[in-house]
Amino acid sequence: MKKQELIQAIQTLKKEKDAIILAHYYTDGDVQEIADYVGDSYYLSKIAKEAPQQLIVFCGVLFMGESAKILNPDKKVLMPDPKADCPMAHMVTLEEIKRVRAEHEDLAVVCYINSTAEIKALSDVCVTSANALKIVKNIEASKIFFIPDENLGSYVAQQVPEKEFIFNKGFCPIHKSMSKELVQEAKAQYPEAEILIHPECTPDVVALGDYVGSTSGIIEYATKSNKEEFIVCTEIGIEYALKQNNPHKVFRFVGEMKACASMKCVSLETLYETLKNEQYEITLDEDVMKKAEHALLEMHRLAQ
Ligand code: 13P
Ligand code: SF4
Repeated sequence: MKKQELIQAIQTLKKEKDAIILAHYYTDGDVQEIADYVGDSYYLSKIAKEAPQQLIVFCGVLFMGESAKILNPDKKVLMPDPKADCPMAHMVTLEEIKRVRAEHEDLAVVCYINSTAEIKALSDVCVTSANALKIVKNIEASKIFFIPDENLGSYVAQQVPEKEFIFNKGFCPIHKSMSKELVQEAKAQYPEAEILIHPECTPDVVALGDYVGSTSGIIEYATKSNKEEFIVCTEIGIEYALKQNNPHKVFRFVGEMKACASMKCVSLETLYETLKNEQYEITLDEDVMKKAEHALLEMHRLAQ
């Protein structure tokens, strides 16, 4: 099918089936254009929680679809490609969480939303890059086991010196490839540019940022800024929304791996097949869902 036919077919199926399409900023521009809502992980989980539709199509990676299902156990949640998984979501073991819990008192397990449902089920609260700092500050426990992302954990810890942090060695390969040297080279070449950093980058890169924040935070900052040129350290899919909001500004991306292969699994073709065949449905163990729901609802409560 040609692009226009695909768009038409997706819109017709969406209406017929009363589906809602959610897309993350890292998906392709074509997917973002057809989605009902586009946003960062926190915003999309809020929309999923409140959506009246019985059918949710999540254009993103598996942990996002799983979170939508956990918050809507009676709804059908579909993912355009079952291979669209985030490697960081698996970078802590259940045994490690149990071990750290057993060894420490007055401890909260704080879990980045980029994690499997099973990991969330063993956690006290979830966070995203948009709300992690606020939530950690609101937690009563004096010790925080931050999983799976060491970089986001370090970024938060720096700003909450009153708490003791235990880290875990998880990371995002895409953001890890955005090195300090590459950012410095870009800054030397474009000295007027402001540096925008996602907190999944390593601490030496975060330290170079004029702004550090979630994908939606980066878009908001760039849109409000008086500057015309930016060096951006996050996944390249965000360029679509940055350019849509700021057609005359220049965005320079750094990193050896700028694209997240999992996010790029979603296309108009896979979205069309998903809606047509109602595939690939997220199914999770009931008990895991109940426990993981607690951590996600705690996030929504503490982020208020
Ligand atoms: P945001 O919540 O900032 O959109 O980040 C999601 C993500 O996967 C970053 O790699
Ligand atoms: Fe995971 Fe990184 Fe891809 Fe985000 S960009 S989904 S953290 S691999």
